[in-house]
Amino acid sequence: MELLEHLKWRYATKTFDSTRKVTEEDMHKLKEAIQLSVSSYGLQLYKVLVISNQKLKEELKIASWNQDQITDASHLFVFCNYTERKEEDVDAYIQSISQIQATPMDKLEGYGNLIKRSLIEMDETTWMSWSEKQTYLAMSTLLMACAELRIDACPMEGYEVEKYNKILGLDEQGLNASVIVPVGYRSKEDHTQFRKKVRKPLDELFEIL
Ligand SMILES: Cc1cc2nc3c(=O)[nH]c(=O)nc-3n(C[C@H](O)[C@H](O)[C@H](O)COP(=O)(O)O)c2cc1C
Repeated sequence: MELLEHLKWRYATKTFDSTRKVTEEDMHKLKEAIQLSVSSYGLQLYKVLVISNQKLKEELKIASWNQDQITDASHLFVFCNYTERKEEDVDAYIQSISQIQATPMDKLEGYGNLIKRSLIEMDETTWMSWSEKQTYLAMSTLLMACAELRIDACPMEGYEVEKYNKILGLDEQGLNASVIVPVGYRSKEDHTQFRKKVRKPLDELFEIL
């Protein structure tokens, strides 16, 4: 199983080689992988910013505990969840299913209503948590895609969300920066690449019932 080899190869990169850039072709593959990621109901209630502008990355680094990955990586993915649940988003999704899968709208009405009900029934905290979880699924897909392409990445929560939202103008768009991933190529100087993986043993992690 090749995926296991990819997962063993990857690590949360601390120092990127700032001279190396991910090609447009590979960036396109990474975007497609995110696009194909699973999401609850298939709604994809998030937006992903891809930042390569060095000035902007410098600004974001200050809001990221000064972690070097932000400026040294080739590109920075910022996964943003929507902060509000809107009926029109569900309607647009149902419309897409109808068009893409050639299904009459009246056959999809019940499904649309079910989704709307489930979103409305969540209290605010549950909704925000649910909404952020969606972006983590996409982030995980990105990490696997990076590993297969031998592109290094570092999933990160170490940044000030409110500052990100302000710098990137996310509040106005009803978005929230929930998790970020700088991608690029590891520096030879990054000693963490040589560390052995620390993971729980299988018999501790799993319980067979
Ligand atoms: C959601 C999330 C947030 C993380 N935040 C940071 C971070 O801010 N900075 C950092 O250097 N590593 C961060 N990490 C990396 C983890 O520490 C790392 O994935 C974990 O120790 C396992 O090591 P490995 O990924 O190298 O196998 C984060 C990982 C995840 C999944």
